[in-house]
Amino acid sequence: MEVKLQEAKDSIRDVIDFPKKGIVFKDITTMLKDEKHLATLVDTLYNQYKDKGITKVVGLESRGFILGTVLAYRLGAGFVPVRKPGKLPSPTYSEKYSLEYGEDEIFIHQDALDSNDVVLLHDDLLATGGTAKASINLLNKFNLKNVYVNFLIELDFLKGREKLDTYYDVDSVFHF
Ligand code: PRP
Ligand code: MG
Repeated sequence: MEVKLQEAKDSIRDVIDFPKKGIVFKDITTMLKDEKHLATLVDTLYNQYKDKGITKVVGLESRGFILGTVLAYRLGAGFVPVRKPGKLPSPTYSEKYSLEYGEDEIFIHQDALDSNDVVLLHDDLLATGGTAKASINLLNKFNLKNVYVNFLIELDFLKGREKLDTYYDVDSVFHF
């Protein structure tokens, strides 16, 4: 890994027992607050996706909004939010997914994408893969020809990637 990217990775803070006991939380705020790291991340992602013909970046609420919009701007693409319940005002598609305790649901506007869009789905973290899998199910409603999937961080030991369709190009900047 390039030195600048390694330095960015090293700036991610481990927070022990957050949000509950036994979890080591990867806190990206310590990386994002540094203007050099922020620029390195955006430049890296821009270079990776600039020749893919991306027309829309789809960001997952809420941490996927942070770099998702910046990346959309750099790529000359539009930005589409996938949101949590009760937030989107117009007709939506939705997908339920399991959490450790119970269920959650995510939503996208039905007119957010059309089948000609080339989509980059972005979130900060691939953990168990529940959120990402539900998001991909949402995207599958639009008959898209090409979808790229990107995470800042992938927790390899949770094997979230195994939940995702091998048909898609899935990539993570940092692996732990
Ligand atoms: C976190 C993270 C990812 C998701 C990953 O979001 O930002 O979106 O969990 O977990 P999974 O792979 O096990 O589904 P969270 O729902 O905590 O909310 P936030 O982004 O609004 O902070
Ligand atoms: Mg999230």
